[in-house]
Amino acid sequence: MTNKIKKIAVLTSGGDAPGMNAAIRSVVRTCAYYNIECAGVYRGFQGMIEGDFKAFNARSVKDIINKGGTILKTARSTEFRTPEGRQKAYESLKKEGIEALVVIGGDGSFTGALQFNKEFNFPVMGIPGTIDNDIFGTTHTLGYDTALNTVVEAVDKIRDTASSHNRLFFVEVMGRDVGHIALNVGVGAGAEEILIPEENLGLDRLLESLRRSKKSGKSSSIVIVAEGDKIGKTVFELKDYVEEHMVEYEVRVSVLGHMQRGGSPSCFDRVLASRMGVKAVETILEGQSNFMVGLINDKIQLTPLENAVKGKSKINKELMRVSDIMTT
Ligand code: F6P
Repeated sequence: MTNKIKKIAVLTSGGDAPGMNAAIRSVVRTCAYYNIECAGVYRGFQGMIEGDFKAFNARSVKDIINKGGTILKTARSTEFRTPEGRQKAYESLKKEGIEALVVIGGDGSFTGALQFNKEFNFPVMGIPGTIDNDIFGTTHTLGYDTALNTVVEAVDKIRDTASSHNRLFFVEVMGRDVGHIALNVGVGAGAEEILIPEENLGLDRLLESLRRSKKSGKSSSIVIVAEGDKIGKTVFELKDYVEEHMVEYEVRVSVLGHMQRGGSPSCFDRVLASRMGVKAVETILEGQSNFMVGLINDKIQLTPLENAVKGKSKINKELMRVSDIMTT
């Protein structure tokens, strides 16, 4: 391994996700393994601008593999979007002797990292961390698996009360513009219908499906609604609409919100984070830059950051078919 780099910094940016701490730990420990210095950058790109760094060694990251959130904090920096802000960030890094950067975050964070690399030829590597799983170049982003488990548990609990009262529940889940969480949780929790942005079911088909399920003898139902779905009504408007057209249903709404981003990471996310951190640092030490580390066919693989930003994650069509069959 060619090792000209002597100091690497790691930061988390955008929405936090379970597994980010495990990834920070992995980056720091891999640096320690190769005897290079490592700095943690607090508050994402904003902290980089302000020189909010702390020297990390292998022991600095003890007891964090099991923790949700990010010990480095995270922020969405508007100043980093300006050339002046990025210039300040570059000067802070130089002053600290930092020669490469690992960014743990989503596509917005990667766009910032790429811009920074273009302007200052500064080596950057990306680790995908977001519960949404909306990043091209990996089948799983950090936090996605944990979020699925968190949401499935929440929906199971809602099912208990739904069936006790013979109610229909609309449960809104996160996912930004994609329906990965909704689709997987919908299948995993046995939802009646799943509304995702990738397929507009339409109000008529929704009613038809609910009528069919009532007729088939079901007394309660769960409909999972992705926050980015394209049906054209909020979950609260959907409730009113269904109650108006199907008086036989008593409807309730549950918006799960930010609890989906919290909690201790699943074993899958911890292992994935550990693998990704090692690969990110080793890739930098091989003299490479501008890649995102991802999981493809269960192997850790590199995708050019540019493709990760431009590409689109695909919804699992086979799972959509499974879901259709399961709701008969
Ligand atoms: O990207 C993660 C995510 O939790 C999305 O699912 C959601 O749309 C968004 O972040 C919420 O962002 P904020 O933290 O600004 O409320």
